[in-house]
Amino acid sequence: MDKDRDDAADLAPTVTLAKLYEEQGFLDKAASVYKKLLDIEPGRAELKEALWVVEERLAGTLPRSRKPGTQTLLRPSKGSEQATAERKKMLDQESNEPRRILVIHGPNLNMLGRREPSVYGTSTLEEIDEEIKKTAAECGMTADTFQSNHEGELVEKIHEAIDGYKVLIINPAAYTHTSVALRDALLTLNIPIIEVHLSNVYQREAFRHKSMIADVVTAQVVGFGKDGYPMAVKAAAKMTRKV
Ligand code: DQA
Repeated sequence: MDKDRDDAADLAPTVTLAKLYEEQGFLDKAASVYKKLLDIEPGRAELKEALWVVEERLAGTLPRSRKPGTQTLLRPSKGSEQATAERKKMLDQESNEPRRILVIHGPNLNMLGRREPSVYGTSTLEEIDEEIKKTAAECGMTADTFQSNHEGELVEKIHEAIDGYKVLIINPAAYTHTSVALRDALLTLNIPIIEVHLSNVYQREAFRHKSMIADVVTAQVVGFGKDGYPMAVKAAAKMTRKV
């Protein structure tokens, strides 16, 4: 066997292979696999985004390894005009696709309006969701909302954000303080994540001061009551703004 042969050429191109190369620091091989996948499915936005990130890292305009929770996908690249132009081209091609965001509400938030109104306000979750969708539409985006009282359902919904969503906004409610499973699920994503809390958890009981997800999210919006959601949606719009 030819020693110099590129083993990336031998293996069937899959996203798993590309990610593996990426994680192990073989960025040129990761780029080659993403390119092959894009040849097969040129419309897949997440592949274009992944390729862009790898190329930016190769060009040295993004750190070579990505620590979860950093804003590397959002930072405008400096010194790589070509990469930026290519990214703009890709995004222009997608410009007719609506930018979708997913909003996930955790346990007991279905009881908003009747649940401890002095802490969480008097608005119902339906009213909050309506405001979220209205704000998203004003920002040229669409928002899907989801609530569950069950950890596993929340985990599965987070997995759905892998395909097609540009930003995840999540209030994990009580699971914020306990759930390794939700944290691990969030680590599967490669999109910005905004953690929202109605109340200022840092001014409440000590057990609420610890968020299991704080270091893997992009940003937190805390203590603004129901207004925190439209604020997060507007931030999401800025985060996904085209270069
Ligand atoms: C909450 C804060 C959590 O501590 C609590 O368990 C909730 C709601 C908030 O939005 O303020 O259910 O996430």
